[in-house]
Amino acid sequence: MALDTEKLNAFMGQFVGDLGAAVHAGMVVIGEKLGLYKALAKGAMTSTELAAKTGTDERYLREWLASQAAGGYITYSAETHKFGLSEEQAFALANEDSPAYVPGAFELALGALAAVPRIADSFRSGAGMGWHEHDDGVFHGCEKFFRPGYAANLVSSWIPALEDVKDKLQSGGKVADVGCGKGASTILMAQAFPKSHFFGFDYHDKSIEAARESAKRQGLSDRVNFEVAKAKDYPGRDYDFVAVFDCLHDMGDPVGAAGHVLRSLGKDGTWMIVEPFAHDDLKDNLNPVGRVYYSFSTLLCTPCSRSPRHAPGWSWWTSGSMGQM
Ligand SMILES: C[S@@+](CC[C@H](N)C(=O)[O-])C[C@H]1O[C@@H](n2cnc3c(N)ncnc32)[C@H](O)[C@@H]1O
Repeated sequence: MALDTEKLNAFMGQFVGDLGAAVHAGMVVIGEKLGLYKALAKGAMTSTELAAKTGTDERYLREWLASQAAGGYITYSAETHKFGLSEEQAFALANEDSPAYVPGAFELALGALAAVPRIADSFRSGAGMGWHEHDDGVFHGCEKFFRPGYAANLVSSWIPALEDVKDKLQSGGKVADVGCGKGASTILMAQAFPKSHFFGFDYHDKSIEAARESAKRQGLSDRVNFEVAKAKDYPGRDYDFVAVFDCLHDMGDPVGAAGHVLRSLGKDGTWMIVEPFAHDDLKDNLNPVGRVYYSFSTLLCTPCSRSPRHAPGWSWWTSGSMGQM
């Protein structure tokens, strides 16, 4: 068998890019956590100036800055030895309200990767892993990454695209946000529609606690309630609007959840499903976005859907342990 060295070299080139991207995930999380991108967004500076501004160690910083410049995440001038951010880099890395804010995605990836040893075992056992069993970075990164997209679209275009929903929410409706995680979408809706009442449900208790705190901080506790509940049995009836954001595909029994949503809706109620877009045929998903989806699905979504907590008909007495619910 003769190796085609050109093809091999091209593949090695791809590998170097991928290896750099894999370790770069940690670099972005460090940059976001320490406010390095935000400081650089204020103007180009040397590593010494950035260290003084951010209270960080210059030697570590120099290494981090070099990794960022090599990866095209920040700019570097060989004449002034200053590092900075272009307008576009600042929009994506330093502006939390921008719809293109990306650091949360790397926090999510890093958190998900912590599950690799367990998921490798699951390949043999077939066992699931619930959302609640993941590293905290998964919950924080998920909210940080998704919230800007919801802030940019939910109130301004998704809700108005639905028949009558905006009018109902403006005059005072009853809304359930199912699988709400840390409540970013619930809170955005509550801010926009002060006459409506919002109920955020998620089976993960830590996310619900964080969501409650967030609602309190933003002075929304009068119109937002967060409760630990599963999609198949959350309380309440006669909802005008039920929404699920990026979670139906995580559920072990999405059909059972859909039945419960239907029963919980009032007359003329509306169910909005927000899900990542993918094609039905594998060959049409073999692209960079498909790689992101399938990799996250292997580590997070598929194991969550196979977690005993979410299996059709699961209950605490059949599992032999009361767990958290
Ligand atoms: C990818 S996160 C999305 C969170 C949030 N909706 C957002 O868009 O930021 C999936 C969420 O679904 C929740 N979840 C998964 N299965 C669930 C179920 N059967 N019932 C309720 N929540 C569930 C998880 O706990 C997690 O918070």
